[in-house]
Amino acid sequence: MNPLAVVTGASSGIGRAFAIELATRGYDLILVARSEAKLGELAEGIHAESGVNVTVHAADLTKKKSLNTLLRYLKDKPISLLINNAGVATIGAFCERKPARLEEEILLNINAVVQLTRAALPGMVLRNEGQVINIASSAAFQPTAYFSNYAASKAHILSLTLALNDEVGDSGVFLQAVCPGPVETGFEDYAADGQLSAPRALFIKPETVVKQSLSDLSKRKEVSIPALHHRLVLRAGRLLPTSVSRLAMRFSGKQLFD
Ligand SMILES: NC(=O)c1ccc[n+]([C@@H]2O[C@H](COP(=O)([O-])OP(=O)(O)OC[C@H]3O[C@@H](n4cnc5c(N)ncnc54)[C@H](OP(=O)(O)O)[C@@H]3O)[C@@H](O)[C@H]2O)c1
Repeated sequence: MNPLAVVTGASSGIGRAFAIELATRGYDLILVARSEAKLGELAEGIHAESGVNVTVHAADLTKKKSLNTLLRYLKDKPISLLINNAGVATIGAFCERKPARLEEEILLNINAVVQLTRAALPGMVLRNEGQVINIASSAAFQPTAYFSNYAASKAHILSLTLALNDEVGDSGVFLQAVCPGPVETGFEDYAADGQLSAPRALFIKPETVVKQSLSDLSKRKEVSIPALHHRLVLRAGRLLPTSVSRLAMRFSGKQLFD
């Protein structure tokens, strides 16, 4: 029997790349996102290519009913790998962001991750095997003006991931937080309503994120930062006193958004 992986946000970007890569590694897949047609097309392609079983589960993870239906569907499934990838961002001045968008960010980036992890982890601990990959962000490491709610949501995920390793690590279950900088997906357009374009040189491909994450997972690295230039930017940031890095975020954000 193939191991089973669940991938949220599998209809595009990083989640889609995870689904394709995991199929080549022999995982059966449950793919989750709102766009059922996109998931169906992806599932057909993956099954034809690699022969693994692929199930599509369309769900809006910000909706309580939809999330609960998914949690019930996953109950008692022997999940080997859970990838909490679905996420959204709001970029721009906090006071100008729509409250509904801030709520969406919290429900998807935090609540869905917490509930899906809570659903999958007990079974993994019982079986003494299982892995969870949580897609955080390089923004998780510091307060980030004009990206405030998003960075805070990803800080939550980073902290949760590390703390859970301390709780369940003895059972053999392992969690990883993936913390990329900019990645070439549709993510940024929605985040800034098409108003922002980060320097293209900073961007990496979703496949790079996936390969590095899985390679780091095999070495039990609990934080995966996928590209050398993203690692260097983060290290340089950490050398600065927090007050200086916060000032830098404040002024660069102000220039971009005010
Ligand atoms: N791209 C970057 O620069 C970057 C950098 C660091 C971290 N990240 C993180 O990487 C993760 C994946 O983002 P991406 O860059 O691959 O963006 P993306 O291409 O926009 O993918 C986002 C995925 O989340 C799904 N999704 C959005 N809202 C949903 C909802 N309410 N319920 C269920 N699924 C939902 C989308 O599918 P549907 O629309 O079909 O629902 C899509 O499959 C996110 O957690 C993001 O924070 C991205």
